[in-house]
Amino acid sequence: MLQGKKIVLGITGSIAAYKSCLIIRQLIKKGAEVQVVITPAGKEFITPITLSALTSKPVISDFFSQRDGTWHSHVDLGLWADAMLIAPATASTIGKMAHGVADNMLITTYLSMKAPVFIAPAMDLDMYAHPSTQQNLRTLQAYGNHIIEPGTGFLASKLEGKGRMEEPENIVSSLERFFAQQNSLAGKKILITAGPTYEKIDPVRFIGNYSSGKMGFALANECANRGAQVELVCGPVSASMQVHSPNIHRTDIESATQMLEACQRLFPSMDSAILCAAVADYAPETTATQKIKRTGDDMVIRLKPNPDIAASLGQTKQAHQTLVGFALETNDEESNAQAKLKKKNFDFIVLNSLKDEGAGFRTDTNKITIITANGKTEYPLKSKSEVAKDIIDQLALL
Ligand code: PMT
Repeated sequence: MLQGKKIVLGITGSIAAYKSCLIIRQLIKKGAEVQVVITPAGKEFITPITLSALTSKPVISDFFSQRDGTWHSHVDLGLWADAMLIAPATASTIGKMAHGVADNMLITTYLSMKAPVFIAPAMDLDMYAHPSTQQNLRTLQAYGNHIIEPGTGFLASKLEGKGRMEEPENIVSSLERFFAQQNSLAGKKILITAGPTYEKIDPVRFIGNYSSGKMGFALANECANRGAQVELVCGPVSASMQVHSPNIHRTDIESATQMLEACQRLFPSMDSAILCAAVADYAPETTATQKIKRTGDDMVIRLKPNPDIAASLGQTKQAHQTLVGFALETNDEESNAQAKLKKKNFDFIVLNSLKDEGAGFRTDTNKITIITANGKTEYPLKSKSEVAKDIIDQLALL
């Protein structure tokens, strides 16, 4: 999978820098071409001579070559590479990447990079656990970068052993897995719903729920990474929820009825749909045109049932199409999910329970069970981007 791949390896100032030699050896053994870009601090930990001996290429560190004044073009590197891997990535480099502080060759190369970027953080636990580092990692992930970490990923709730750089062989296999799947969904069209719906009571109030859109956006990114064309229909999510892939087309809606309209319009031309949105089952029977004033009396709002988007798509589903649903449960999880699998004509359903710590709404992690007509697979708590990989692996089997 790495044969002939061109990898820019960014090395920063961490004690784990010596492990980059092992990464280079493995990448080259598997047929990749490696160009090292190192930060000034990185050179304090490992010499460019060692790195250029391993890669058979001069190491790039400065904007100009000291020997002959040649200019190193970060733009050319951005176009040359099939992937950029930053390993080890220090808190400082991660912060600069998240905020576009282009004060060294590695960051300028990152900002010009056209290829996917993989980041293997390396720092002590306190630096890693600091909210600013966590926020920067979230920002980088939201920009579509891949964070490679030991265990369940940087956003898992348990911090034990965190901050340590992932082992070189696992870093290399993450890249291999990425290239193996890179175009595995090319030519496929996938509809994904995400976020909550808002059902208007009056011009200032609504009935909604806690869905942030994180799970649905992670699914959209994963499908896009594998080459699918994604139609993302999403309810009102925070402005920080952005997609950055040209493979994703986003439609913003507010209510369940609007989501139904968008899904019914798009679904006939799709190969699959993954319904991750938390759709309100009921909406106010009427919406007041003016703000409802407070009175001393009790207030009663009559609700009417909303359309069931999943059931409607399930009814029109063609033989070549697959339909995937979610079940968010608080009790009798499996039997409720099984009932929804049948009733809505899903090919499989992803169960997440609010009983599990770190699962469900707003968290950066999720814990799921995939239920098909033939059985179930339980997964441990993982970051939502890793959970998305498991779900799309299951979709790819159908
Ligand atoms: O957005 P996050 O904060 O990351 O949280 C993710 C999540 C918890 C919202 C997500 O993982 C999840 O569980 N989404 C489904 C939530 C839900 O509404 O579940 P449900 O069991 O009520 O619905 C079952 C299925 O029918 C779902 O696929 C739902 O999208 C669909 N549905 C429900 C009601 C309705 N009127 N129309 C529907 O299509």
